[in-house]
Amino acid sequence: MARRPLIAANWKMHKTVQEAKSFVAALLPKIAAVRDRDVLICPPFPLIHAVDQARRDTPILLGAQNMYFADSGAFTGEVSGPMLKDLHCEFVILGHSERRWVFGETDELINKKVLAAITHGLIPILCVGEKIEEREQNLTEQVILNQLDLGIKNVPENVIGTMVIAYEPVWAIGTGRNASAKDAHDAIALIREFIHSRFGSGAADKLRILYGGSVKPENMATYMREEGIDGALVGGASLDPESFAKLVTY
Ligand code: 13P
Repeated sequence: MARRPLIAANWKMHKTVQEAKSFVAALLPKIAAVRDRDVLICPPFPLIHAVDQARRDTPILLGAQNMYFADSGAFTGEVSGPMLKDLHCEFVILGHSERRWVFGETDELINKKVLAAITHGLIPILCVGEKIEEREQNLTEQVILNQLDLGIKNVPENVIGTMVIAYEPVWAIGTGRNASAKDAHDAIALIREFIHSRFGSGAADKLRILYGGSVKPENMATYMREEGIDGALVGGASLDPESFAKLVTY
């Protein structure tokens, strides 16, 4: 089954409203001819509205980088699924390694967020990936499958295939030390095999699985040539419209 590639920008904590608007204006003509793949921008919360306005009537998709699982309430500093829907977000990144390792998010919390996102009609991009010490101890497969298993707990079987999983080895994020195409391929094959064994070929064939970690215009094509890699989740190289356009048009 041919899956539509997805190239996603995770801006992390970067840009002002004006910079976000300029980015979209500069990006659009560069990707105007692209029809066979999805392009997603995940700005920080304060820029979501500006990006939404700038991308209106264009094919650019919109996502957030995090959310809380409750719909509303006394949760100072948090943002809910209904709020993201109200801002026209279609996707939400969940379980990013920076959320796990800088902000202490557990698999249980991430799972609650995944379930809440689905309830509110947001497509979760669930991130999984091992730390360098886990890789050195040959724990990569165990860590990936454990994060995946706990992250998708109680997700309805008919929804699994509509989700997105991103394999982002922690040691490759923001380090310039990207995973080899083979390592990314093998991790992604492992994820798809797990989904296949649990939910069957319908879900496994439909599910999009991305690679993330020091993806650059120079290495993008090597990933996209690999069977099973459906796109990229890009941090640093997504901040410049020139560079992101090259990633989109790999
Ligand atoms: P970099 O592309 O900057 O390595 O970041 C990857 C990432 O964390 C995307 O979510």
